[in-house]
Amino acid sequence: MSAPDDVRSERTLSFPEGFLWGAATAAYQIEGAVSEDGRAPSIWDAFCRSPGAVEDGESGDVACDHYHRWREDIALMRELGLQTYRLSLAWPRIVPDGDGEVNPEGLVFYRRLLEGLHEAGISPMVTLYHWDLPLKLQERGGWGSRDTVDAFVRYARTCYEELGDLVPRWATINEPWCVAMKGNLIGDHAPGEKDLSTALAVAHNVLLAHARAVAAFRDTGLAGDIGIVLNLTPATPASGREQDVAAARRFDGFFNRWFLDPLLAGAYATDMVEWYSRQGALPLVSTCEVETLAEPIDFLGVNYYYRKVIRASRNGMLRLTEVPQEGEHTTMGWGVTPEGIHDILVRLARDYRPIPIYITENGAAFPDKIDPDGRVRDPRRLAYIRDHLSQVHRAIEDGVDVRGYYAWSLMDNFEWERGYSQRFGIVYVDYPTQHRIPKDSARWYAQIIKKNGLPAEG
Ligand code: FCB
Repeated sequence: MSAPDDVRSERTLSFPEGFLWGAATAAYQIEGAVSEDGRAPSIWDAFCRSPGAVEDGESGDVACDHYHRWREDIALMRELGLQTYRLSLAWPRIVPDGDGEVNPEGLVFYRRLLEGLHEAGISPMVTLYHWDLPLKLQERGGWGSRDTVDAFVRYARTCYEELGDLVPRWATINEPWCVAMKGNLIGDHAPGEKDLSTALAVAHNVLLAHARAVAAFRDTGLAGDIGIVLNLTPATPASGREQDVAAARRFDGFFNRWFLDPLLAGAYATDMVEWYSRQGALPLVSTCEVETLAEPIDFLGVNYYYRKVIRASRNGMLRLTEVPQEGEHTTMGWGVTPEGIHDILVRLARDYRPIPIYITENGAAFPDKIDPDGRVRDPRRLAYIRDHLSQVHRAIEDGVDVRGYYAWSLMDNFEWERGYSQRFGIVYVDYPTQHRIPKDSARWYAQIIKKNGLPAEG
C-alpha cells in the first residue's frame, strides 16, 4: 500500500546546514549593452558576426538587457529566496583592450551590482573568465599566447583590489575544456579555430593563468575562497570489450582527467600525453611548470549536464564515438542522466584528494511557452533539477563534501552557438518585452531552498 500524500510530503531529503542554494549566469549571456560605458568587443562579439557561426545570426548585443535591469533581477532573486548567485565579470568591460587601461565605468557597474546583492542578502560567487576574451588579445594570439596569461593575472589583480571586499567566492576560469576544445579544436565556440596543437596550448595556458591568478589572490591577503569551474562528463563503455573500455577511458582522459590531474595532482595524465604526442600536438612544457598548476584551491566548481556512453571507432582524433541512448533528452539533444552527477562526485573524492565542491551549474533546456493564464509550466525541468538534486544528496550521504548548488540558469539567455533557441532559465525571459516570468520550476525551487531539502519520492 502506498503512503498517503500528506505522509509522503513529510519525508524530506535534508541538505547539510549552511548548504548554499543559488543560480548562475554569465556576463555575455545576459548583459547586452556591448558598446556601452567603454566596453570593447570580445571574441564572442566577433564570432557572432561570422556568417553561420551562431543559430539565426544571433548575438549577445541585447541578450537579457541585464546591464540595465540588474536591480529588477536582484529583486527577482530575492523573491525566489536565492542565497547565492554566480555571475561572471566581463573582462572587456573592466580592461577593454585586455592589457591596458582599466575602465572605471566597468568597475562601477560591478560594484553596484555586488553591493545590490549584498543588500539583498545574496552572497555572490564571481567568475573572472566566462569566455569573453577581449578581442584585442585574440589579435595577439589569444589564449595560445603566454602574454594572455600575464594579461589575465593583471586583470584578476585589478578585480581583487577593486571588488575583493564584496566577493566571498572567486572562480578563476569557467570550463577550460570548452575554452580549449570547443573554441580551438571543434571550432563551434569563439574564436572558432580547429587545430589540436592550438587547443592543447590553450588548455595549458588557461590552467597556468588559473594557477597564477590563485597565487595572486593569496598575495593580496584578502579573505575569501578561490577555485575553478570544470565541466565534467563521465563516460561509460558501451560494452565490456577491451576496445570500448579503452575508448571510454580515452574520452575521460580528453574531457576530465586532462584538467583534473594537473589541477589536483600536478601532472598530466600519462596515457593522454602519449596519445597527443603520437599526433605531434603536445606543447612543450616543463614538469616544474606542470607542478605549479596544482596551486592549492579552496573548492572545485563542478558543472554537470550529462554522461555519455562511448564505444571504440576508427574515426576521429580520439578513435571513439558516442552511442545514442534512449530516454529523456533536452532540446540541446543531451540525455538526461541524473545518476552521473552522483558518480562523478564520488569519483572525485575517491581518485583525488577530498576537496569542498560546489555544483556551479546544472540544468536543462526545454521548449517553454507562456500559457494563456500567464504561467510557464515546465515540469520536465523541475523533474530534471529534482532528480539531480536527489543524486547530489546521495553523494553527500556517501561522504562527498558538497557545499552548494547553482541552477543553470537564473533566466533564459544567449546560449552561445545556439543563440536564443535554448531556454535554460528557471525564469522565463520574453525577449521582445524583456519581461521576466518565474517558471513553475523557480517557484518549486524557492520551496526547496526554504526547506533546505527535497521531498523524497514515496
Ligand atoms: C555550460 C556553460 C554555460 C551554459 C551551459 C548550458 O557549458 O558554462 O555558459 O552555456 O553550458
